[in-house]
Amino acid sequence: MKFSATALCFLASLPASYAWGSLGHETVAYVASNFVNSETKAFFQDILHNKTDSYLAGVATWADSFRYTAAGRFSAPFHFIDAEDSPPSSCGVKYSRDCGEQGCVVGAIQNYTTQLLDPNLDAGHRNMAAKFIIHFVGDIHQPLHDENLDRGGNSILVTFNSVQTNLHHVWDSNIPEKLIGGYSLADAEKWATALTIAIKTGVYKPLAKSWLEGMDLKDPVSTSLAWAEEANHFVCSTVLPLGKEGIEGKELSGDYYEAAVPVIQLQIARAGYRLARWLDLIAAGLKTEL
Ligand SMILES: *[C@@H]1O[C@H](CO)[C@@H](O)[C@H](O)[C@H]1NC(C)=O
Ligand SMILES: *[C@@H]1O[C@H](CO)[C@@H](O)[C@H](O)[C@H]1NC(C)=O
Ligand SMILES: [Zn+2]
Repeated sequence: MKFSATALCFLASLPASYAWGSLGHETVAYVASNFVNSETKAFFQDILHNKTDSYLAGVATWADSFRYTAAGRFSAPFHFIDAEDSPPSSCGVKYSRDCGEQGCVVGAIQNYTTQLLDPNLDAGHRNMAAKFIIHFVGDIHQPLHDENLDRGGNSILVTFNSVQTNLHHVWDSNIPEKLIGGYSLADAEKWATALTIAIKTGVYKPLAKSWLEGMDLKDPVSTSLAWAEEANHFVCSTVLPLGKEGIEGKELSGDYYEAAVPVIQLQIARAGYRLARWLDLIAAGLKTEL
């Protein structure tokens, strides 16, 4: 594909990204829709006003557009938790230290889960809370959403296929898109199908049950903090194994890409599988309230 000079300038002017790209989020959503039970599916199709099989994937990136609107600016810090650790020698997330006054992804998952469980929540806020949960469970599984260093890698300049970009963007988009060969909704659905098979009968089958350990609807902070902690550990092992100095200015589409792919596949699969269970718990939890 050839980009015109104008297109490249346009891309360079986009705001720093803080989320899996659309491919990652939509894939997480499709994996989740492959695992939720039928009551959950009907429940969220109703809340999201969409009866198609894309009812989750279709809203998976809404939160990334909303944050750039005046009405949605308050939600910008909800997409990450800035772990003030010291990769690569020491990784770790602490809620009290790392969740800022403006909020963070762990607090947001708690907030919008609690809202969804309130039987008196109005339809508009219920719709918004659902869209936030679908998005944030994806974000928290991206290692650089659980890292403070250089604004989650947004300020670490690197190249990918000889094009200048930053480390955060490489994890959000360049690596997934190179792996799948596109970023359309259909690409996401295809990737999700492959991950779903891996969970049901393939490499992830022996692991999938353990991914749900510790999930507690009554304690969304501990639940999601464990996910953040798990993803953050990849910052030390795979994202920045040689520290910032070891990566700055480097070309990442070769060996670095090869090492990152298994982590990205695993994290997207985990996020989708956990999102399915979380939505199941919310739907069942609300039913007992009503
Ligand atoms: C449901 O979502 C899909 C994916 O975004 C979209 O193509 C479709 O038009 C939506 N359907 C309705 C009724 O909104
Ligand atoms: C909880 O959600 C509401 C509604 O979106 C928002 O105004 C508030 O800032 C959120 N609080 C936290 C702690 O995330
Ligand atoms: Zn996001």
